[in-house]
Amino acid sequence: MAVSLIVLAAGQGSRMNSDLPKVLHPLAGAPLLHHALRAGFALDPSRVVVVTGHEAAQVEAAARAFDPAVECVRQDPQLGTAHAVDQAAPLLAGAAGEAIVLYGDTPFVRPETLQAMLHARARHAVVVLGFRPADPARYGRLVTQGEGLERIVEWKDATEAERAIGLCNSGVVCASAGVLFDLVARVGKDNAAGEYYLTDIVELARAQGLSAGVVECDAWETLGINTRAELAAAEAAFQARARAAALDDGVTLTAPETVWFGYDTVVGRDAVVGPNVIFGPGVTVESGAEIRGFCHLEGCHISRGATVGPFARLRPGAELAEDVHVGNFVEIKNSVLDQGVKVGHLTYLGDARVGEGTNIGAGTVTCNYDGVSKHRTVIGARAFIGSDTMLVAPVTVGAGAMTASGSVITENVPDDALAVARARQVNKAGFVPRLFEMFKAARAAARKDG
Ligand code: UD1
Ligand code: CA
Repeated sequence: MAVSLIVLAAGQGSRMNSDLPKVLHPLAGAPLLHHALRAGFALDPSRVVVVTGHEAAQVEAAARAFDPAVECVRQDPQLGTAHAVDQAAPLLAGAAGEAIVLYGDTPFVRPETLQAMLHARARHAVVVLGFRPADPARYGRLVTQGEGLERIVEWKDATEAERAIGLCNSGVVCASAGVLFDLVARVGKDNAAGEYYLTDIVELARAQGLSAGVVECDAWETLGINTRAELAAAEAAFQARARAAALDDGVTLTAPETVWFGYDTVVGRDAVVGPNVIFGPGVTVESGAEIRGFCHLEGCHISRGATVGPFARLRPGAELAEDVHVGNFVEIKNSVLDQGVKVGHLTYLGDARVGEGTNIGAGTVTCNYDGVSKHRTVIGARAFIGSDTMLVAPVTVGAGAMTASGSVITENVPDDALAVARARQVNKAGFVPRLFEMFKAARAAARKDG
């Protein structure tokens, strides 16, 4: 079945009190808009239209960054949710199949819930997603009669009796594309806000003899974000669910409430994650790996049997093969570490490839940036990089080679060679007492003058 998605993201979100458009505020490391798009994309839609308005260019860039197939249409001025949907009509004119309206500020809707709405379309021309929040606050209320949905009343327009209804409107709507656009075109703005309410399509449908119905979901799914406090609450809710899911999946979290997951973090069974570990986007940790406390990870892959941290930072493109050990105060970016590599302490590896079994000594730095360009460092298998080696890229250290501690390596090192690139040591016998006598004499002379 063909499905078109219409994602509303034109509103200003003035209650965020922010220069950043509301739908671009991040939740679990991704903009709110991406969460809504991800749920919708799970239905494998044939068309996806994001309605933009406030800071449209920024929102459009974020939408296309999610998937270049996303189409955008501008709503200017923003006259309400029905008016917003109507802006997508020219793009989707004649689109066959179903249309689903999502909100860019409602990040948690599950694909299974959207599927349930599509199924409910067998019974109703218009299907609305409802929920029963602990505090119905200012949500629109669903006025039902038996199985059917009679109408939706906005809080501003509701009577006391209607405000007492616990079943609320999430905003998510499903209908055939043809019916949706036909209804939306008829919506007026004779209401308390003077806006074109999408919610009016229910009454309009019923006036035409079409039926409307409700699919209910858990209240957390339809949490809409309007304020920073709601954003913080949503983040907390996301994290609580992610921690519970990780524990259920057989991950050991020694202090679950201190671990922060990204929206797409994958951690395998029997992996161990210590306290205060932060996962940015794009992290995969395989089964049995261990992430010790206070690590910061993003865009990286950690294989089975690897140990990382405490206090390690893995940045995008860090790829750790099996049994790699990365220790404290180590930063790794865009580098592949083959099986069994050890990087124990105080090291920066960027734009590097390190062969199997190589040991990287404390304080090693790949000097990958010359102020203009980035350059690669390639280290062979079973090499030994002495402590405090500066590897000035581009440079290659051969398999089985060694660098002397404190070396500044500017030339390639052949296989099995020892590279020493530092000043030769000179010992001056008995020199220190004489040196101090000189210093003391100099100080005494200076005091007499002063
Ligand atoms: C809307 C619903 C309300 C529901 C609530 C759920 C209407 C009239 N009301 O109210 O029944 O309980 O959502 O959260 O639909 N938007 C546009 N263009 C516009 C106006 C809004 O794109 O002209 C977008 C916003 O960016 C936002 C979404 O639509 O993503 C919802 O708009 P918002 O103003 O937050 O609607 P509510 O007043 O919360
Ligand atoms: Ca809202």
